[in-house]
Order: sequence, then C-alpha cells, then structure tokens
Amino acid sequence: MNFEEIKNICVVGAGNMGHQIALQAAICGYKVKCSDISKETLEKADKFVDDYLPGRVKKERLTQEQADQARANIRFTDSLQEAAEDADFVIEAATEVLELKRKIYADLDQIAPKHAILATNSSAIVSSKIADATSRQDKVVNMHFFNPALVMKLVEVVKGPHVSKETADLTMKLCEKMKKVPVLLKKEVDGFLLNRIFAAITKEAMWLLESGVAEVEDIDNACIYGAGHPMGPFRLNDLTGLDLSYIMKMEKFRESGDFADLPTPRLVEHYIKGEYGEKTGKGWYDYSK
Ligand SMILES: NC(=O)c1ccc[n+]([C@@H]2O[C@H](COP(=O)([O-])OP(=O)(O)OC[C@H]3O[C@@H](n4cnc5c(N)ncnc54)[C@H](O)[C@@H]3O)[C@@H](O)[C@H]2O)c1
Repeated sequence: MNFEEIKNICVVGAGNMGHQIALQAAICGYKVKCSDISKETLEKADKFVDDYLPGRVKKERLTQEQADQARANIRFTDSLQEAAEDADFVIEAATEVLELKRKIYADLDQIAPKHAILATNSSAIVSSKIADATSRQDKVVNMHFFNPALVMKLVEVVKGPHVSKETADLTMKLCEKMKKVPVLLKKEVDGFLLNRIFAAITKEAMWLLESGVAEVEDIDNACIYGAGHPMGPFRLNDLTGLDLSYIMKMEKFRESGDFADLPTPRLVEHYIKGEYGEKTGKGWYDYSK
C-alpha cells in the first residue's frame, strides 16, 4: 500500500485514549470511524468533539473551516463492522485485556480490507502476542500514543519480529501526518522506551530517598533544574497515583521473584496509610493546604 492510499481510519475503543486519537486523525484530514461497545462512552466521545473543536477555534489553533471539516470527518458507532469495513488503517485502543484484544483482532481480520494495517495502542502488550490471531501478522504493529493523545507528541512504534518494514514505515509516516513525533523500536521490549526510562529514573530516585541521601523535594528539584524535566519523579508519582505504583511493583515482584522489584519501604508506608498522591490530598507531598 502507498502512504497516499491511507484515507480511512478506524479507531476501536472510544475511551480515554481512543476518542482523542480518533479526533487527532480527523483534524489531520482522515475520515475516521470510531467504535465502542459502550453507548454511554460513544455519546461522551461525540460530545467531547462538539465541545473541543469550538474551543480550538476560539484559541485560533484551528480555523472555523478546519473545525467544520474535522467534525465532518469523524463518526462514532457501536458497530465494529461499520467502523472497519472500509478502513485502510486501524488503531485499536480497547481495554487492556489480552484475550479481548485477540478476539477484536480476529474479528478485524475478517472485517477490514486485506491491505489494512492493524495497530495497537496497548501500553504493555507487544503485538506478537496478538498478531497470530490474524492472517496478516506482518501488518500487526504497536503504535503507542501517550495520554492525553491530543496533546502529547510522542508515539512509540514497535517493529516486532513479525512486522514488515512496509508496515513499520507506513505507521511512522502516519504518526507524522497526525502531527506526532514517532520513535521506532527495532525490537519488542517490556515497557517500550519511555516507560522504561521513567522506571529507571524513579527507581534511582526512590533509592536516593531510602538511603537518606536527599529528601523528596531536593531530588525532584535536581530533575527539574538540572535535567530540564517538567516535574520530578515524586511529583509525577503523586499525579499518576502511589497505589498504582505499589500494585505494579508487587505484580513485577510476583513475576520476577527479584527483591529489587519490591516497592520501597517509604512507598509501602504511604500505600498502607492510603496516601495515594494528589487524589487523596497526600502522597509524597501534602496537598491538604
Ligand atoms: N490511559 C492511558 O494513559 C493510556 C496511555 C497509552 C496507551 N493506553 C492503552 O490504550 C488502550 C485503551 O486504554 P484507555 O485508557 O483508553 O481505556 P478506557 O477504559 O478508557 O477505554 C477502553 C474502551 O474500550 C472499549 N471496548 C472494550 N471492548 C471493546 C470492543 N470489543 N470493541 C470496541 N471497544 C471496546 C471500552 O468500552 C472502553 O470504552 C489500552 O490498551 C491501554 O493500555 C492507555
């Protein structure tokens, strides 16, 4: 398939990620159909588009004509058949459950035209765990957007061993056309690129805290004022939730059996006290004031 032949995009899932990926594609000129099994989610997504586009016009980020075109380009539906039957490129952003995704891919393989690429936005599932549910393994690829997808520029494209060069190239090009900055991972790896880098920084930050080398605020300030990060690892952790960090670390420990993967004592202490970060008013920082 030539890049110019990509005209119709199907997005599967209209949740947090899906509706924003779909809208970004519509703003960038693609005809987009976005499907979900939840009527409520579809209605919410449709309303989001109605609210978002006038705001962009007001801020002069889009002309009225561009906003009207984007609105005309996007449609929400509860029918996967309708969404995928004429798709040249599918971006799947459905719930993060492997068996569910495999079923969706088996269905997409039947519905979508043979030339269509099937890309998954999964944060953790590599496409080789899904590709064999289809008869087009060379066209099943990871295309990992970041939240919020309308704002964040980075997209990680992962070229698993089964992915053809053509699929990886077309996916990279589509990211650029969608005004994103794609990075190519030449191999599948747990956590992809950025989450691995963040995990390493966070692990080191936690170690420095536990070892009594420095306090939370000073470690965060080192990252902000020395490395130019928008926020430090502890502040970021307060936003994403200490509960999530605790659960993920325990899960990793269960898998690896490596004590180094256990949550650190200070993290456990906060978790036990229900101090999950900003959402509970306290985490590494105190937000009660
Ligand atoms: N939330 C994030 O920060 C983030 C970031 C990057 C990637 N992701 C990945 O994006 C994907 C979606 O995550 P999310 O945060 O948008 O989840 P979400 O729960 O907000 O949305 C998932 C949607 O998928 C829908 N769905 C379930 N089964 C379906 C089916 N058979 N057909 C169509 N739709 C179906 C659900 O109804 C739901 O609306 C996941 O794979 C996740 O790992 C999430």
